[in-house]
Amino acid sequence: MTKDVLIGRLDEFPPGEVRQATLPDGTNIAVYNVDGAIYATADLCTHGEASLSEEGILTGKIVECPWHFGTFDVTNGQPTGMPCTVALKTFRVKLSEEDVYVEC
Ligand code: FES
Repeated sequence: MTKDVLIGRLDEFPPGEVRQATLPDGTNIAVYNVDGAIYATADLCTHGEASLSEEGILTGKIVECPWHFGTFDVTNGQPTGMPCTVALKTFRVKLSEEDVYVEC
């Protein structure tokens, strides 16, 4: 069963930026604002466990991992550049006025 978890307010996730949020179980996730649309994925790169929220570079909908320059499409978690081959887990994001929730 899923539930919606409040992770912050919309203005905490500025356009073009990656931010970190923490789920109730202590798991960190990466939250992205792509031209005003919010997306959320697992925080750790599937290649070598770099933190994408702390070190990732967001360009459009692509986040680049700084460790080995692998890339992912943050809208669906799919890897888009080597050496990353395993998709990031994604979380459905819901907005309620200015509040941002993820389904988990
Ligand atoms: S740890 Fe992210 S590309 Fe290697």
